[in-house]
Amino acid sequence: MLYNQLKTKISSLVKQSINTEKTLFKICEILRSKISYYDWVGFYFKNGDRQELKLGPYSGAETNHKIIPFGKGICGQVALTNENFVVPDVKKQNNYIACSVNVKSEIVIPIFVNGKNIGQIDIDSNSLDIFSKKDEEFLEYVCSKVATLL
Ligand code: SME
Repeated sequence: MLYNQLKTKISSLVKQSINTEKTLFKICEILRSKISYYDWVGFYFKNGDRQELKLGPYSGAETNHKIIPFGKGICGQVALTNENFVVPDVKKQNNYIACSVNVKSEIVIPIFVNGKNIGQIDIDSNSLDIFSKKDEEFLEYVCSKVATLL
């Protein structure tokens, strides 16, 4: 039920949006505060013509990883594969960029505009193996709404 309520909330935020940055930040704050195991929520976007991602609005601890080259880490891999990436245990990933020692699992879902992968939502959790198909489906919905702003 929570997910459906959040979908409605995000959909109306996007519809009423007058400032994309602010709306994206609000989405990050809502997701992080309403879903107990979402400990860091942020957006990365393709940085112009460069083969790299740039950090956009986020909610959670500050990260040093404001630029991520394509192919590097979970985010950089999603920029190339165009596929969802669910990591149940970050310790078992060799191509992973650690943002905090507390993070145990991660989910990254790409954002498509006109069929092009232009960015992603990245969520870290301090709980192990916590993300399910439900999160994937929910976050795909969030990304589809966000795409209408970009
Ligand atoms: N863990 C990510 C880096 C971004 S932070 O989670 C904020 C990765 O491996 O791409």
